[in-house]
Amino acid sequence: MPKWYFKAALQRGISLLPYSHRINHWVQRRMGTLQLSSFFLEDRLIAVKRHLDAARSCFQGAMPQKMLEVGTGWYPVVPIGLFLSGVEEVWSMDVRSLSSLAQIRELVLYLSTPEIKALLNQHLGDWDKRKFQALQQAVAKSPTSNLDRLSALGIHFKIGDARSIPIDWGKFDWITSNNTFEHIPEPVLVDMLSGMYEVVESGGGMSHYIDMVDHYHYADPEISPIHFLRFSANQWSWVENSLHYQNRLRLSEYRACYARAGVPIHHVDMEHLPEDALNAVNLHPQYQDLPQDDLLVGYASIVSRK
Ligand SMILES: C[S@@+](CC[C@H](N)C(=O)[O-])C[C@H]1O[C@@H](n2cnc3c(N)ncnc32)[C@H](O)[C@@H]1O
Repeated sequence: MPKWYFKAALQRGISLLPYSHRINHWVQRRMGTLQLSSFFLEDRLIAVKRHLDAARSCFQGAMPQKMLEVGTGWYPVVPIGLFLSGVEEVWSMDVRSLSSLAQIRELVLYLSTPEIKALLNQHLGDWDKRKFQALQQAVAKSPTSNLDRLSALGIHFKIGDARSIPIDWGKFDWITSNNTFEHIPEPVLVDMLSGMYEVVESGGGMSHYIDMVDHYHYADPEISPIHFLRFSANQWSWVENSLHYQNRLRLSEYRACYARAGVPIHHVDMEHLPEDALNAVNLHPQYQDLPQDDLLVGYASIVSRK
């Protein structure tokens, strides 16, 4: 059985169980696929810099004061990176509670190692050492798993659906997401885009980083980074599962979602995959009419202003 298929079948099986997210977390930790690594840390620190560059260029070089990240996930490197970079109020929301104080402690401990401090210096430049100390103290002191304790520092972890962001959270200068849109079904994404844009301050904006590569390619590099485009929607629904849903949208389809949500696109930074990726896959007819240039976009950062 190909490696990617084994992973898909395992996750599909787990997704049908009660407490599937917890079980998935446990299995992934046992298999070592959810370990903090310098590769993961560096990838997310680059994301922090990318979002701050986009925001600062909108604010004539000034740092945004209040930012929201949608899709916290397991290890909130991006919100902590924004906090250390000097954003005064950082909010991070997820539709379910995945990150815990124990994981944040683990992350803060990892950030204290010389190897990772060097990455902080490299990607965040003059980050705030005093804020880091305050964070170390806050996570060490707290006897409970209550993430609210970090609010005193200006980091707010919230549970909620980005389609309807509570009005009492106020408005945000800048909203971001990382590696999140590709896991959202298209109609939900349209509602999320309009929900987020509604709570952007006028004069502010959003930057969303999307990984359009077939994520099974990361577990099985033998398959093309766009291997999933060989399946019809019906076939894909048999491979898919709720724990690892991938919408397979290409950049032109994301642009259409923005248009439907009434959210303007200011600019897109993108990275193309090598042409070999296309040669190695028999495209399903549903994708055959899309231009090669569109099919081969692997990563995109979509910036909007309001
Ligand atoms: C793949 S994770 C990305 C985690 C993190 N941003 C990272 O880069 O590691 C996507 C996250 O988006 C969250 N999510 C999905 N739909 C959402 C929604 N409607 N509102 C808020 N979060 C959502 C999921 O629960 C998941 O934790």
